[in-house]
Amino acid sequence: MTSLFAILWMFLPFCTESLVFPRQDESPLIAVLDFDLRLEIFDPSDGADATFMERINVTGGRGGTSGIMDFNYKRNRIYWTDLGVSKVYSLKADGGDLDQKVILEGDLGAPEGLAYDWIHNNLYVCDFRKHKIMVINPDTGAKKTLLPDVYEARDVEVDPKNGWLYWIAGWDESARLMKSSLDGQNQVLLTSDLDRPLSLSLDYDEQRLYWTELPLINSIRSIGVDGGNLTTVRRVGGGWRASPPKYITVSRNYIYWNQGHDTIRRAEKDRASRSIRYRNLETRGSYGRTENLFMGILAIDPRKQIESPSLCGDNNGGCSHFCLPTLIQSTSPYNCACPDGMNLMDDNKTCSDEAQN
Ligand SMILES: *[C@@H]1O[C@H](CO)[C@@H](O)[C@H](O)[C@H]1NC(C)=O
Ligand SMILES: *[C@@H]1O[C@H](CO)[C@@H](O)[C@H](O)[C@H]1NC(C)=O
Ligand SMILES: *[C@@H]1O[C@H](CO)[C@@H](O)[C@H](O)[C@H]1NC(C)=O
Repeated sequence: MTSLFAILWMFLPFCTESLVFPRQDESPLIAVLDFDLRLEIFDPSDGADATFMERINVTGGRGGTSGIMDFNYKRNRIYWTDLGVSKVYSLKADGGDLDQKVILEGDLGAPEGLAYDWIHNNLYVCDFRKHKIMVINPDTGAKKTLLPDVYEARDVEVDPKNGWLYWIAGWDESARLMKSSLDGQNQVLLTSDLDRPLSLSLDYDEQRLYWTELPLINSIRSIGVDGGNLTTVRRVGGGWRASPPKYITVSRNYIYWNQGHDTIRRAEKDRASRSIRYRNLETRGSYGRTENLFMGILAIDPRKQIESPSLCGDNNGGCSHFCLPTLIQSTSPYNCACPDGMNLMDDNKTCSDEAQN
């Protein structure tokens, strides 16, 4: 049955909603969420002539309020947030039927940014309105509030190989770009020299962070992961009337972003003042106006999620729930942690509903 389906699928690639991730040796695909609850996938390798691959209807709030995505290469999944209905979703994309489900709901304000640690299987989620960063198990939906006091937590990136979590938060005076170890400890301020950050993307190869800033800043900026060499990569003039860069993703030599909500662009990282615009991805309504409302953008690049040994071993560190790597390797490389409302027992591994005295 499966193989028959696979054969049929080979000949009818665009007749079903489906998504196949690029192979390890292939170039990335770009996925972008549309406000109308669509996930659009395209191949950017032919320059401005994007090859449209798939359009997938995603579950979510009425009217569409989907936010930011990340992917799980090994298990063929895409995770995304929905700001309107305050939920986090997961979609299985393996070329067959699409399985979509809610993996986190309840007690959320506005979940926006998220990032997946593919080595320790932890999904980090920002809640912009409840001012916190959570870690969730994408398989069970178990949730732990990791950083309970991050004012306007917007977006997060994770580098599990080097053990760092990065996030942007705040607005004007309170805006910050921070990092911590994967358990939320060892916090470091990378810069407060930012104003209206929205979306963050990590360049794993060159260890730089890229982010967008909303009006009046209207910029894409970048900084080394140690906080050095802050650069304005691209600036859009025009003040409040400008279409600012919104969501951003970095892959290999390029940055991809949506400018305003209606165009998708790409530029070389080092020459971002020159960009191309993927016009063939835009849909046009009356008077030729673009009708798109592009939201989160994601490079599905296999090279981003290189396999590497887990600090938690192959048994989740013996932890009943979360295994969170720490930076201080001299003591223990990780700590077990419990979902909100549960307590860690004396063995430092098992979580229970019972109170620990
Ligand atoms: C996706 O949504 C659009 C617009 O609501 C609809 O026309 C289309 O039939 C849907 N596609 C599938 C495969 O359900
Ligand atoms: C600073 O960043 C720019 C832009 O990414 C890069 O061209 C330059 O080489 C960097 N300089 C240093 C000292 O890292
Ligand atoms: C659990 O952790 C505490 C605090 O770090 C430590 O004192 C205790 O010895 C640990 N218990 C076990 C069984 O490892």
